[in-house]
Amino acid sequence: MKVTVSRKAHFNAAHRLYRKEWTDEKNELIFGKCNNANFHGHNYEVIVHVTGAVDPETGYVIDLKILSDYIYEEVEVPFDHKNLNLDVADFAELIPTAEHIAVVIWNKLRKRIEMDKQLEVVLYETPRNFVSYKGD
Ligand code: NI
Repeated sequence: MKVTVSRKAHFNAAHRLYRKEWTDEKNELIFGKCNNANFHGHNYEVIVHVTGAVDPETGYVIDLKILSDYIYEEVEVPFDHKNLNLDVADFAELIPTAEHIAVVIWNKLRKRIEMDKQLEVVLYETPRNFVSYKGD
């Protein structure tokens, strides 16, 4: 019997999507508003799903307090109120698209969660645009 436990968290961060080897015109064409030279912010919502067996003694898949601490330490502390391009080393060479942010978050949390549990990260960049990553 496997159950999925989920925790939602939030962070505000700035980014800019661009490739330095592309012309300004090409960056504008591909990345649109997210190419704005002076950065811009998003209110990111992250939902972390952990799937696994229910422990017969505790009745938990994972203690949600522990999961929320991991999200706080691995996501909220390093990303909240930061400029992802300039302040976060993970994005020094990686364009901070929602896709890449979700993968970075997954990799950070994967190290903290027991390997017998499945992990999925869903990241909302806007209320209507969101991505998900399960490690595939
Ligand atoms: Ni953007």
